[in-house]
Amino acid sequence: MQIPQPGNTPHTAEEKLRLLVEFGARISSELRLDKLLAVIAQQITTILDVGRCTIYLKDEEKQELWSKIAKGHGLEHTEIRLPMNSPGIIAHVARTGETINLPEAYEDPRFSMDVDMVTDFRTRSTLAVPLRNNSGQVLGVFQISNKSDNTPFDKNDEGILLLLATLASGSIEIAQLYQEIRVAQLETIYRLAVTAEYRDQQDTRSHLKNISIISYLIALALGMSKGEAELIKNASPLHDIGKVALADNILLKPGKLTPEEFEIMKSHTLYGGRILEGAHSKLLQMAHKMSLYHHEKWNGKGYPMGLKEEQIPLEARIVTVADVFDALCVFRVYKKAWKTEEAYEYILNESGISFDPRCVAAFKKVYPAVRKLYSHISVNQSNESPETTITINQPLSE
Ligand code: C2E
Ligand code: SIN
Ligand code: SIN
Ligand code: FE
Repeated sequence: MQIPQPGNTPHTAEEKLRLLVEFGARISSELRLDKLLAVIAQQITTILDVGRCTIYLKDEEKQELWSKIAKGHGLEHTEIRLPMNSPGIIAHVARTGETINLPEAYEDPRFSMDVDMVTDFRTRSTLAVPLRNNSGQVLGVFQISNKSDNTPFDKNDEGILLLLATLASGSIEIAQLYQEIRVAQLETIYRLAVTAEYRDQQDTRSHLKNISIISYLIALALGMSKGEAELIKNASPLHDIGKVALADNILLKPGKLTPEEFEIMKSHTLYGGRILEGAHSKLLQMAHKMSLYHHEKWNGKGYPMGLKEEQIPLEARIVTVADVFDALCVFRVYKKAWKTEEAYEYILNESGISFDPRCVAAFKKVYPAVRKLYSHISVNQSNESPETTITINQPLSE
């Protein structure tokens, strides 16, 4: 498929029609909101041959408009947020549903330069149209700036941009719904995991979070796809879910367990397996294997089955490295916290004994990032997206 690059404006009506048809096809196959918005912006940049296309979506809860600024100088992940009541044309279009077309943005008092300032972009001409759903509700704003031939936007451009916004609105709404469902599912799973760990951990949240991040980093270092690694990240907090079934006198015993008590303790793997057995979602299927097999050992001397080497599902081999490393690093009622370096040495020494050597090698690779999780400075940092949010927060002065 040939996509004309900016500079080769599609001139014939036929070409434009073909691009519009392709637009519909490309965007209807994308369910992830971030990717969808990137594809739409890229397509519109091409079809209308402009310097920039920005898509703003309404965040109803916060009463803000947000956009990931895709192009710019080192600001690929910058999220711009404009309160609905901010000055400027974007919030105006979102409030009123009117189209605004400015031949020279900087000469128009309605235009706010704030976004240009943070993105280092010089808007000349700009056109902003509302993004509406089928019931006419405004979902956001599509904005294009700087036609490559330096002419102002005309009625024809307005018509095409509105048409593209209409074509895109269905896909955007579906992607938003999927996102909501995904977030709700992950929240539910995470809270379930917190329930299981709640009784015996000082700091459940950082414990679950650390295991989850370490498992994710190991998976990536093993060469897994980002999608697979994310499944592992999201399923790993459930590995000890079976502990909900254990009585306090065992789980919370301040000191060494007797052999009989440890036998009972071991059953948390079987309970976890039973709780998650027969799940339909990929995520819970993965969590099932993790909870059942995360105490198996590479040499076959683990529990509950005594599986050996590759008999142990890979996701369980990964989470066990993360689980033991974290368990060693923190305080438990039955043990003191080890120094991070001691725990690291322990993991390396157990390669080929307790742990899959490949997982240990992967852990070694990502250890510099893992270490940071346990340094005091970074206790509350969010480790996931190194993303900047810039809120342009000047209230509208009447
Ligand atoms: P946990 O505290 O989350 O520990 C997970 C795993 O980390 C342990 O699995 C073990 O492989 C490793 N680990 C934790 N602390 C140490 C340690 O001091 N030295 C070494 N070498 N490894 C350590 P394991 O042993 O199968 O234990 C499973 C769970 O049983 C533990 O989860 C904990 O909840 C409980 N548990 C184990 N031993 C005791 C104990 O002596 N007293 C109490 N109260 N609970 C225990
Ligand atoms: C505005 O809302 O007026 C400015 C946003 C922009 O075009 O960069
Ligand atoms: C404006 O933003 O230009 C006027 C106020 C409004 O539309 O709500
Ligand atoms: Fe466990």
